[in-house]
Amino acid sequence: MGSVQLVEWPEPVVRVQTLSESGLAAIPAHYIKPHADRPSLSAGLDGGASIPVVDLEDSDGSGAAAVAAACREWGFFQVVNHGVDRGLVERAVEVWRAFFRLPLEEKQAYANSPATYEGYGSRLGVHKGAILDWGDYFFLQLLPEKLKSPEKWPALPTHCRETVQEYGDELLKLCKRLMKLLSISLGLDVDRLPAAFGGDDVGATLRVNYYPKCPQPELALGLSAHSDPGGITVLLADDAVKGLQVRKGDRWVTVQPLPGAFIVNVGDQIQILTNAMYKSVEHRVVVNAEKERLSLAFFYNPKSDLAISPVAELVTADRRAMYPAMTFDEYRLFIRSKGPKGKSQVTSHQKYDSLRRPTMQPPCVRA
Ligand code: OGA
Ligand code: NI
Repeated sequence: MGSVQLVEWPEPVVRVQTLSESGLAAIPAHYIKPHADRPSLSAGLDGGASIPVVDLEDSDGSGAAAVAAACREWGFFQVVNHGVDRGLVERAVEVWRAFFRLPLEEKQAYANSPATYEGYGSRLGVHKGAILDWGDYFFLQLLPEKLKSPEKWPALPTHCRETVQEYGDELLKLCKRLMKLLSISLGLDVDRLPAAFGGDDVGATLRVNYYPKCPQPELALGLSAHSDPGGITVLLADDAVKGLQVRKGDRWVTVQPLPGAFIVNVGDQIQILTNAMYKSVEHRVVVNAEKERLSLAFFYNPKSDLAISPVAELVTADRRAMYPAMTFDEYRLFIRSKGPKGKSQVTSHQKYDSLRRPTMQPPCVRA
């Protein structure tokens, strides 16, 4: 992995928004997913199942139990009464809608490269000839401070930078609360997971996803199936345009965001730290022909040069450590070079079963 050169994109970058707005009737071949990966867009296939809702203001202390159940069953939940000001959330959405409405030349000033991914992007992964996803995004780094470069954030619309900072500060507070709740939910000391993440030296990034209208949504995906490589993700999704689907066994369940709620999911670093007590869950995004969709994904990650391996309290004689130590800096190179590949990274990172017998890796991990 260390030899992968993440310097430039392997092909000229085409903005999905430009394609969409050109009014083409058929999508280019390199956005057409293989049959097995195509979404089923007919309604009702998820049987009415939905991800759990956790009320952070519950008065009876049931939050941790609700989180434990949600993480075991789904790896995903929605949080309500989370304390983040509704007006701020609406302003954050509005500045990003305005950013994506800017003329292409304005946005191109922020064109990103795979070296850091910061800026305006249209692909994840550097494999030449890859089947691409139907979405553009803006990616930026909020923490650690030394990696924060507000001059790389959009100068327009006015107030974009301040709003991003304000939104980031609030989401950071929310993630700190969630990390404590996750610790308690596992029967750990309240500060156990926060400490394993590096205390105050965590990483935080924001990925604003913009999924333009797609003339053939049954052939494409806005974001291919993946688990999030980091710690926890707090997603703000449009409650008027569905798109996020979460894997439940062999089905994909479409999430219906509650107005004002955030969608929370645990990433691979939590799966590793908890010795797979909690598992990161695959999810993907479907697109649609009538409406564009915007989402804000806030990623809360461990300090990037800290070795992450299962916490001692969750390693026992019956459940030995399943993952070797790896820093998040190293871990995230996989998705940055290969793009979204389901759960193949965390699966191949598992070196032992719970009895510490070496795991048999399939000769070719599902791509
Ligand atoms: C992500 C993600 C989901 C969405 O950015 O990692 O899963 O609904 N986004 O945009
Ligand atoms: Ni994701």
